[in-house]
Amino acid sequence: MTKPTRDEVRARAVARCRERKIVIPTIAEMRDPGRIDPVIRAALPAVDMQAVDPLNLFRITWHNDPATGGFGPVNALEIPSALSGVPARIVGLVGRHFPTGAHKVGAAFGCLAPRLVNGEFDPTTQKAVWPSTGNYCRGGAFDSALLGCRAVAILPREMSRERFAWLESIGAEIIATPGCESNVKEIFDACWEIKKTQGEAVIFNQFEEWGNYLWHYGVTAPAAEEAFRALAGPRGRFAGWVGATGSAGTLAAGDYLRQRFPGCTITVAEALQCPTLLANGFGGHRIEGIGDKHVPWIHNARNTDLVTAIDDEAPMRLLRVFNEPAGHALLVARGFSPELVGRLPLLGISSICNLLAAIKTARHYELEADDVVFTCFTDSAELYQTRLAELTAERGAYSERQAEVDLERFLLGATTDHLRELTHADRKALHNLKYFTWVEQQGRTVEELNALWSPSFWTELQAQLPAWDEAIVAFNQETRNRGQGTGDREGNGR
Ligand SMILES: Cc1ncc(COP(=O)(O)O)c(C=O)c1O
Repeated sequence: MTKPTRDEVRARAVARCRERKIVIPTIAEMRDPGRIDPVIRAALPAVDMQAVDPLNLFRITWHNDPATGGFGPVNALEIPSALSGVPARIVGLVGRHFPTGAHKVGAAFGCLAPRLVNGEFDPTTQKAVWPSTGNYCRGGAFDSALLGCRAVAILPREMSRERFAWLESIGAEIIATPGCESNVKEIFDACWEIKKTQGEAVIFNQFEEWGNYLWHYGVTAPAAEEAFRALAGPRGRFAGWVGATGSAGTLAAGDYLRQRFPGCTITVAEALQCPTLLANGFGGHRIEGIGDKHVPWIHNARNTDLVTAIDDEAPMRLLRVFNEPAGHALLVARGFSPELVGRLPLLGISSICNLLAAIKTARHYELEADDVVFTCFTDSAELYQTRLAELTAERGAYSERQAEVDLERFLLGATTDHLRELTHADRKALHNLKYFTWVEQQGRTVEELNALWSPSFWTELQAQLPAWDEAIVAFNQETRNRGQGTGDREGNGR
């Protein structure tokens, strides 16, 4: 059988989207939902946020308003100085209000949508394979379902039960690989196996897909910029972007933010139990979603300033403070508003890790009250209820006394330990570390690796974003043209 041409594949994708009444949002619309067709905006409140309805593609944005089902300001939460222990302002973009409850649904869209509209993925014959430690494959399975594609989720067996249950409920094929969080090599092995045995599968490897990088560059970073402009006031300084890396996608927002705010530093965080960037270290840990014993291909190592490692015991303890009734009682007794305390469950385990890394960044650079450090609260405690129950089973019921100890020691007592400000040579060492994963194991060439060291590589990559939107607009146009006579789609995109 001859391989279909790109135009043929694209025509099939157009036909599929026409059939399912799918309109694909542009990056510009995700950044600013005000640009979305008013008919689509009006239809959204009637659609459940988690429903497998193509309209939910338009909810892949930081602007979802959970109260109305429409759009509002960027979802962000500021952690007051009295709680962070540093004078600098620390603000996290909130991922909870994306469909699936995590921002990775956007990264997955960034990988799938451009391939679909450019004839590089055939939704009628090919499966989309999502290698991940959890949220990316959930996002990929969700996007695949919305776009009418079959999905295969690959994730380590030891990830939270909630992740598996969700994947089962959406009907994804699941491949559980050995180990935990930091067993990404085993995930890659499963991908190679699929490549060998299933010709019809396309692997969307987030660790090397530029769609992951570009989605955060084009959507997450402008959301942080917008939130900053709304809250900073005339004296505010955008002082830093902080992101724990799994795939280093979220970290890409830092590249945009530093271009906009030259004083912005970029901090990368990882687990102390797997300090690959800090010390070429390895190991298992409990901060689900990050730290994978390698440097992702899409990590712009030359543009990273600080590396810090967070002891996984700290976010586990603070998860209890932020969620257990005794933790809430303590915080309210200390004068924090019930409104703020009620929002702390918006931080999942890696979000707390990001908060701690932001505090360390603020302490290291001696940031002041006009400095604003942005980070990402990627997912919420909703996905870790079984972890909270395990902690109770293991350590007993939570008390206010214990909450006080945990708050003092792990949040207010956070210091600049396990932190390194990178020199040029350190950055080069991180870049070089990619060799062992990507060239030795994953089939990249030395020339490709060397190209990543050049700043021009990254600016040329970033310049591709407008072409994405042009391709999406042209694709939607074609879907609509050929779909004449299907009355209800015209204008409302369904
Ligand atoms: C909960 C959580 N936190 C952090 C990350 C890391 O984000 P990134 O892969 O963009 O580096 C992930 C990635 O899946 C995640 O699921």
